[in-house]
Amino acid sequence: MNVFRPLAGLLLACAALAVNAQTIIKFSHVVAADTPKGKASEFFAKRAGELTKGKVKVEVYPNSALYKDGEEMSSLQMGSVQMLAPSLAKFGPLGVKEFEAFDFPFMFDDTTELHAITQGPVGAAMLAKLEPKGIKGLAYWDNGFKSFSANAPLKSVADYKGKKFRIQSSKVLEEEIRSIGGIPQVMAFSEVYQALQTGVVDGTENPISNFWTQKMHEVQKHLTLTNHGYLGYAVIANKKFWDALPADVRGQLEQAMKEATVYANKIAQEENDLSLAGVKKSGKTTVYEPTKDERFALKKAMAPVHIKMTDRVGKETLQEFYKATGFDPTKL
Ligand code: LMR
Repeated sequence: MNVFRPLAGLLLACAALAVNAQTIIKFSHVVAADTPKGKASEFFAKRAGELTKGKVKVEVYPNSALYKDGEEMSSLQMGSVQMLAPSLAKFGPLGVKEFEAFDFPFMFDDTTELHAITQGPVGAAMLAKLEPKGIKGLAYWDNGFKSFSANAPLKSVADYKGKKFRIQSSKVLEEEIRSIGGIPQVMAFSEVYQALQTGVVDGTENPISNFWTQKMHEVQKHLTLTNHGYLGYAVIANKKFWDALPADVRGQLEQAMKEATVYANKIAQEENDLSLAGVKKSGKTTVYEPTKDERFALKKAMAPVHIKMTDRVGKETLQEFYKATGFDPTKL
């Protein structure tokens, strides 16, 4: 009898077992692959595969290919998808209203102030608040500061009056648009291009990387670099799924996430800068840098949003944010 035959069979069975033992993680998001979030999720997928030596395969689905932003969160909670990186605005509608503090206009001047929250104890405590919702918060990934666009120039506050602006589903963002006389229109990210093209809305707000990669420059004649609010992400997993992973594998994934977070936060600004260069080069959208006075007028007009929405988000959370940022809406 050929002694190698049973041995080969055993090896094949082991290989099959190993294949069967591979854990698939579906990671869904709504933006293009060549954005800070798109690139960071690919980076995570690669490192997860390497560090777990193939035990985990992360499949990344960009551009709302799996779920639109309105559907993502419930799909994660039900376990149909294992990981997401929704924008921080998406946690308010889930009932964790503290996250809406990130939507407050002019809350952060720069990423140093932002990271004092997202990379510190306040950010960690906020992620922990997702656990009763069946969600494990893993990290914060940057995108950047939002700018307004429309088909007419946006210079003075009066220019926003009566215009319909698409926003994410956030009570704070609704107030932000109302504070400047605009009409807020909540809509899924995947529908924005068409809504701009058909005139369902007049304008929108987003970091330039989203503006550029969704080709909004084709359907918006004017972009004003207002940098009036922050848009970033929390990377999250279905908690039951995450907790059930073998401890060694979970540790390797945590390491992959740590590395992906460093990468994400390193490339975010670069990606937005490249996108802005792309928009300018396209010649389709006029890019306007507001004067100091014009930007201050916008800041002043939006300051009442902070007062009006304090009770919704919670005084304590806001105080923690103001401590980190030095922003005082009563002193404008
Ligand atoms: C949006 O809906 O505008 C953003 O949340 C999209 C994103 O994920 O960056």
